[in-house]
Amino acid sequence: MARKIDVVFSDVEPGAALKKAMAMKPETIIAVLKDSNLRGRGGAGFPTGLKWESARNQGRPACVICNADEGEPGTFKDKRILELRAAKVVEAMAICARAIGATRGFIYLRGEYNYLRKEIEETMARLEENHLIGESILGDPGFSFDLQLRLGSGAYVCGEETALIDSLESRRGEPRNKPPFPTEHGFLGMPTVVNNVETLALVPHIILNGAEWFRDFGTRTSSGSKLFSVSGDCAKPGIYEFEYGITIRELLKEVEAGPATKAVQIGGASGYCASADDFDKAISFEGIPTGGSIIVFDQSRSMFKILKNFVEFFQEESCGQCTPCREGCSRMLEGILKFERSEGSSKVITDLLELAETMSLASKCGFGQSVPNSFRTIVSKFRDEILSA
Ligand SMILES: Cc1cc2nc3c(=O)[nH]c(=O)nc-3n(C[C@H](O)[C@H](O)[C@H](O)COP(=O)(O)O)c2cc1C
Ligand code: SF4
Repeated sequence: MARKIDVVFSDVEPGAALKKAMAMKPETIIAVLKDSNLRGRGGAGFPTGLKWESARNQGRPACVICNADEGEPGTFKDKRILELRAAKVVEAMAICARAIGATRGFIYLRGEYNYLRKEIEETMARLEENHLIGESILGDPGFSFDLQLRLGSGAYVCGEETALIDSLESRRGEPRNKPPFPTEHGFLGMPTVVNNVETLALVPHIILNGAEWFRDFGTRTSSGSKLFSVSGDCAKPGIYEFEYGITIRELLKEVEAGPATKAVQIGGASGYCASADDFDKAISFEGIPTGGSIIVFDQSRSMFKILKNFVEFFQEESCGQCTPCREGCSRMLEGILKFERSEGSSKVITDLLELAETMSLASKCGFGQSVPNSFRTIVSKFRDEILSA
């Protein structure tokens, strides 16, 4: 049984982790993170220590961005972290700045979270007064970190790190080609680390408690804990923290989902649809990965309507820059709507699965590459329901 954990929302003594980090060499901070096996909690799961090392290795003034865009349908954990523990996240950004040699930083806040802006800015001002950000941090004249908060404007794609950087540069947010990666050429050409709110919230704990403490949670390749934003057909929706390796069945029990549970969407619209056959699978980077969105569906739900809703969302949110995604989303929606008009068939499903394959192979960014995830899993597990929609 995976352990229920309380790390992300727990408090730390203000400044203690930064003070400890400043007594370490920047390379040692990075080595601790690498040793902890911390991987990004924003979805892609890139190793955090490696990302920081890549930015540091550029040898130029760098930038740190906290990705608080939180656009994946069904996720609401980053908002809660910022409501309760913004100071810890800001301190983590200062630790990152110290490690990679960053002089500038941004919190990129989802536009709908505007109501949090004043409170976060007040937290930033308090931390600046206490010399944890700003000029001469903790009395070191050689360490300054200018942090600002910026608001997004409601585009899902602006959560993708390179589109986010475009948006911060006051341009239309569109994903860039990679390479170069943001750690090589990011905000205004600076080496830039983009990290998710939850990833950053874990950093002070790892600095204070050590890499081994962190590795004690989770599985061999998925260290630590994960926040899950749980919604849908269950008695106890909300935010849960479990160590990696929890099975879907264990999670369903915790949130008191009934025996009528038909499907669980893991990782939001761009994620994986699990049916009852999957419930003993583990949630982890090597199992079923997730940025944290968990939506429970019971027998009363139409899988066709869920699929249609997801594809409508993607068609609306595609930035339109590359053909496989722009055209693919529209063609996929047209194909799905055929089932509603009783014009669907196995052949339509086969054609759409081929289209999905092209989209995942040829799309420019993670958006178009992940659109097929929910399509493939819903269609393969609930084929009869789609055919009879
Ligand atoms: C379409 C799209 C939307 C994304 N939205 C978010 C988001 O809202 N928040 C987030 O942290 N990462 C999001 N990501 C992932 C980011 O590009 C990036 O991998 C992440 O912020 C890196 O932080 P991490 O390594 O701490 O996870 C998105 C990716 C894609 C392709
Ligand atoms: S995959 Fe979609 S979102 Fe990404 S660049 Fe292409 S059109 Fe834009």
